[in-house]
Amino acid sequence: MPESTSRPRVTVPDVIARKNNHLPLTMITAYDATFAKIVDESGVDMILVGDSVGSVVQGVANTIPVTLEEMEYHVRLVARANPRALIIGDLPFGSYQVNTEQAVRSAIRLVKAGAAAVKLEGGVTMQDTIAAISRVDIPVMGHIGLTPQSYHRMGGHRVQGRAEGRDPGGKERLLEDAHSVEQAGAFAVVIEGVPRELAREISQKISIPTIGIGAGPDCDGQVLVLHDILGLSPNNLKFTRKYANVRELSIQACSEFVHEVRARQWPDDDHSFH
Ligand code: KIV
Repeated sequence: MPESTSRPRVTVPDVIARKNNHLPLTMITAYDATFAKIVDESGVDMILVGDSVGSVVQGVANTIPVTLEEMEYHVRLVARANPRALIIGDLPFGSYQVNTEQAVRSAIRLVKAGAAAVKLEGGVTMQDTIAAISRVDIPVMGHIGLTPQSYHRMGGHRVQGRAEGRDPGGKERLLEDAHSVEQAGAFAVVIEGVPRELAREISQKISIPTIGIGAGPDCDGQVLVLHDILGLSPNNLKFTRKYANVRELSIQACSEFVHEVRARQWPDDDHSFH
């Protein structure tokens, strides 16, 4: 059932208050006004303008080429839908890793484009960066585990936290990452691509909401990429679920148009001007 668009706007304090709530948090990605409106009608809590735009919209193999200018543009499009859900803008690779000043400047650009908060990847090494952005009153969502911007370090999109140890991607390191993000002042953290047991342990040990993707059911919330929910991609990934097969429906609709034009059935007189 679609939810009324007159529901109250979701705020950062609302999200924080949902830690350990019986009603898990929900977040879905969107990259333009049309889909942001559709996603918002579902009653979702947060819309993530993710740098996954690179793979699902731009057709690139990973998120590394996505630029700050592109993210600003997509945040602006989503904000035009005026959703009740909280808009989170993803800081792309290269827009926050140089130093904290660069990170604050980039975060300000996404907030001016319409985001209420920003998300960035990394734990221990991003503690100062998260603190610096939070200090200027821009709420930050962390992102640990399988961090797609670490594509080359990980050797691809690989599940993290299976090996013991404090090296990046190790189990103990991921616990440290989670604590660092929390201590730096993040209001929530995405945990991506880690074993269910580790995601549960992190969720129990930190005081901010955890939003899982490929991290099992024990997080405080869940996020999925819109194109995966809609079944727009031909891939079947273990950690996603196609709630519809919009790809098939779209091919069918376009094929019908092509067929009707070729058969001179479209347009008919009813759809013509006189
Ligand atoms: O960019 C994105 O869509 C993300 C989600 C997968 C969490 O970071």
